[in-house]
Amino acid sequence: MKTMIKAITESNLNDIPETCSSCIYWSFPEEFEETKPELPEKKQELIAKKRQWTIQTLNEFGSCGKILYDGNLPVGYAEYGPSSRFPRIKEYKSQPVGKIEERVVFLSCLYIADRNLRRKGLGEKLLESIIADLTRRTFKALETFARKSSPNNPSGPVEIYLKRGFYIKDDADREFPIMRFDLQVHGA
Ligand SMILES: CC(C)(COP(=O)(O)OP(=O)(O)OC[C@H]1O[C@@H](n2cnc3c(N)ncnc32)[C@H](O)[C@@H]1OP(=O)(O)O)[C@@H](O)C(=O)NCCC(=O)NCCS
Repeated sequence: MKTMIKAITESNLNDIPETCSSCIYWSFPEEFEETKPELPEKKQELIAKKRQWTIQTLNEFGSCGKILYDGNLPVGYAEYGPSSRFPRIKEYKSQPVGKIEERVVFLSCLYIADRNLRRKGLGEKLLESIIADLTRRTFKALETFARKSSPNNPSGPVEIYLKRGFYIKDDADREFPIMRFDLQVHGA
């Protein structure tokens, strides 16, 4: 397996794995609830909407995601940015998530799309590349809602974060705590 991680830019948006390229869970929560993505015309609409959202986030914030390739094949995806770009956050009970004004970045997704490639250290690799990027850009912390007792969550289970040195910042919702990593203390 020869893997490579690239930052998302306008030129590789088509490589975002299928599940994520049309996912508006974090960005447009109300529409997400109303939409039936199984309809082909709806799927194209969602892809266009997500694409627009990503371009706007890139323009406002700079690099806001990573694609993991196995050879030429995109097999993993991560997405992050200012918490204000992810309105779904306010529906979670564990709060508050740090703001970009405080130099805190929110990690919305960490995903290995190919099931056969899970538990081989690729999620950790993807997370490490985000930490390196944000440390270099002098951000203060990275936060995410991880899930206890299941990996089925946009950014995965609590364990992957505890292993890298994140700590629980708030667990008002015990199943979906906010995990925080202090970049300038423990970053790459
Ligand atoms: C969660 C995910 C990102 C982890 O990436 P990965 O490459 O499989 O994980 P890694 O091999 O890098 O594991 C690193 C550490 O994370 C933790 N971990 C990973 N998968 C785990 C799981 N399923 N359960 C518990 N801990 C897990 C472990 O601590 C692991 O360290 P270890 O192997 O020494 O025990 C990946 O498995 C994934 O995307 N799963 C799908 C989750 C999903 O359904 N998301 C919904 C998408 S919207």
